[in-house]
Amino acid sequence: MKQPVTLGIVGARRGSSFARTALGGLDGRVQLTSVCDIDPGVLAQWRRDHPELAYYQSYEQFLAHAHVDAVVLSTPLQLHAPQALQALAAGKHVLSEVIAATTLDECWALIAAVEQSGLKYMFAENSCYRRENMLVLNMVEQGLFGELICAEGGYIHDCTHLMYFPICDYGQDRAGQPTWRGRILQRYNGSWYPTHSLGPVAQWLGINRHDRLATTTTYMSHGPVMPEYVRERFGADHPDARPEAFAAGCRAMTLIKCASGALITIIVDTTSPRPHNMVHYVLQGTGGSYLSRRFTGDDDVLWLRDRSDPEAYRPLDEFAAEFDHPLWQEHEARAAQTGHGGGDYFVLSEFIECIRNDTPPPIDVVDGVTWSSIFPLSMESVRQGGVPIPVPDFRQPPS
Ligand SMILES: NC(=O)c1ccc[n+]([C@@H]2O[C@H](COP(=O)([O-])OP(=O)(O)OC[C@H]3O[C@@H](n4cnc5c(N)ncnc54)[C@H](O)[C@@H]3O)[C@@H](O)[C@H]2O)c1
Repeated sequence: MKQPVTLGIVGARRGSSFARTALGGLDGRVQLTSVCDIDPGVLAQWRRDHPELAYYQSYEQFLAHAHVDAVVLSTPLQLHAPQALQALAAGKHVLSEVIAATTLDECWALIAAVEQSGLKYMFAENSCYRRENMLVLNMVEQGLFGELICAEGGYIHDCTHLMYFPICDYGQDRAGQPTWRGRILQRYNGSWYPTHSLGPVAQWLGINRHDRLATTTTYMSHGPVMPEYVRERFGADHPDARPEAFAAGCRAMTLIKCASGALITIIVDTTSPRPHNMVHYVLQGTGGSYLSRRFTGDDDVLWLRDRSDPEAYRPLDEFAAEFDHPLWQEHEARAAQTGHGGGDYFVLSEFIECIRNDTPPPIDVVDGVTWSSIFPLSMESVRQGGVPIPVPDFRQPPS
């Protein structure tokens, strides 16, 4: 494909990060043509800044009329799977924000729809493209970690301020109502945002390549934060100031046993108060050990059996000159200007490349639903008191 891929953004808040990258044109490979959002305030702001684009308040109208080869879905996560299915049915390639699906039925439906359509579906897990995660991946692929034993990923990010309007409000009076994030905490008790943690770890372990997720179990802590937050912010009379208003506990601890025997720990905690740290990863192999930084300003550290002092980790940066991932070596200048540690650049750029070259997406629908399935599976495990639940092998269609 020689013409630029025409692109529409759906959900124009998180989507604005992709839009900014797309407006830069990615060296003539992409052309942003349209924006869709149900919020007229969001669209009005966009229209002021970019009158040349087409705007849609209805997703159905957007799919029917927008001049787009591909769509980026940056809407609330409960909408991703239904909207992706609609887009594929309308003949559009899909880049889906995280998570890809919220039920196992949606996971299977997405796989079937992508296969039937012959279109590209890429899962936009930008944490896989963080420089340090790709550097570790490069080392794993070169065998420096030896046989992998266990890994850990954590999304431990206090997002309480995003759980209630008017945080994300453009002037409408929704103060005191839960946002889509708040509604998730009200309804579901499970690991609702697992893929920032699991994505990079799954790539290190070769999940859906030479290994697979076999069984998983989840325990949840209790959840004292949200009712107290609502009480402090909106008063004790607010209906959500009661502990019963929230199904979710604060911290989800998920264990996943891989077919190889390797063990994965996933932590998701979006309400416990603490300073934000974007990354929380661990990798242990027979040849080395990696610990990501624990607070802003700390170092990511690495120990390699054949290269390090037996008793001392070294900053990961010291290995960058030798092991920086080739994608980062090539695109550093462009990626460094985009959000989430450069991940936003790579996600969009790789998506556009797979459309233009008709190649498989680097994070495909099977990866996306495998990683996302931890949400429904974790809830099932919690419901059953923490019992291990089999993880479907999404590479094999159910018989
Ligand atoms: N990958 C990352 O690092 C990252 C970071 C932030 C958010 N996200 C994901 O991006 C998505 C959006 O998050 P956000 O923080 O921008 O949420 P948000 O609530 O701030 O924005 C969502 C936008 O979608 C619009 N919207 C809602 N329903 C719609 C519909 N049916 N059709 C079109 N537009 C609709 C809303 O009006 C709003 O403007 C979520 O799935 C979230 O998980 C990912």
